[in-house]
Formats: sequence, structure tokens, C-alpha cells
Amino acid sequence: MRTRLIAAAAEVRLAAVAPYSKFRVGAALLARGGEIVTGANVESASYGLTCCAERVALFAALTGGKRGFVAVAVVARAPGGAMPCGACRQLLAEYAPGAKVWVADSRSLTKVRTFTVERLLPGAFKIVP
Ligand code: THU
Repeated sequence: MRTRLIAAAAEVRLAAVAPYSKFRVGAALLARGGEIVTGANVESASYGLTCCAERVALFAALTGGKRGFVAVAVVARAPGGAMPCGACRQLLAEYAPGAKVWVADSRSLTKVRTFTVERLLPGAFKIVP
């Protein structure tokens, strides 16, 4: 399943809309029912409006009714892969707290680094327990 999720993130990465940074990121979420939901980063000329791949995937999954995420794969062309940014970590902590985070470089998809969401954002802010 890890290989499939990484492959899905690598594939959707190619659909990233990143005309400014040219840095394409793909993310794939595995929901508890086995479904995979993907997303890639989308940038804006008003740079701050850019949305990361992880959040595009997460928002699509949530609004598609998915819950209880088992894992999220993130693929980018960077040594060791790209780590989720702080904003994405917060959203993962809220909506995918139990997910494993698999990170890989698009040039070597078999080298995967694994994290927990708790490790990426210890003691995350939450209102709803
Ligand atoms: N980006 C992501 O999509 N995910 C990350 O984990 C880090 C950064 C995007 C945002 C922006 O489009 C580009 O990478 C460069 O920062």
C-alpha cells in the first residue's frame, strides 16, 4: 500500500500548477476504506494564496466525505523529499492525526522516510478533542 500511495502522489505531482516556484508537489491520502485521494500544489500570482499539495488533497478528501486517514504520501523533487509545511501539519493534526506521513524524492520513490503527525507537530492546537 505504501508503494501505491507513493506512486499516486508522484503521478498527481505532475498536475501541480506551480508557474512561479516551478516546485511541484504531489500528495496522496489513504482513507480507512482503502480509497486514495490525491492533490497537487496550486500557486497564485498573489503568492500567499498558494495552496500546498497536502491541503489540496486533504480538502478534496474531506469534502468527498472521507475520514480516518491511515497515511499520507508526499512526493517532491528534493533530496529526501519535501516535508509538510507548518500549515499543513496543523491540518493533518486536526483531520489525520493517526496518519503515517511518507515522504519521498520523485527521483527515488523507493527511498521513503516515515513520520507520525504527532512527531511533526507535537502538542498541536485543537478545539474539538
Ligand atoms: N509546497 C507544497 O505543496 N507542499 C509542501 O509540503 C511544501 C511546499 C508547495 C507550495 C509552493 O507551491 C511550492 O511548494 C514552493 O514553496
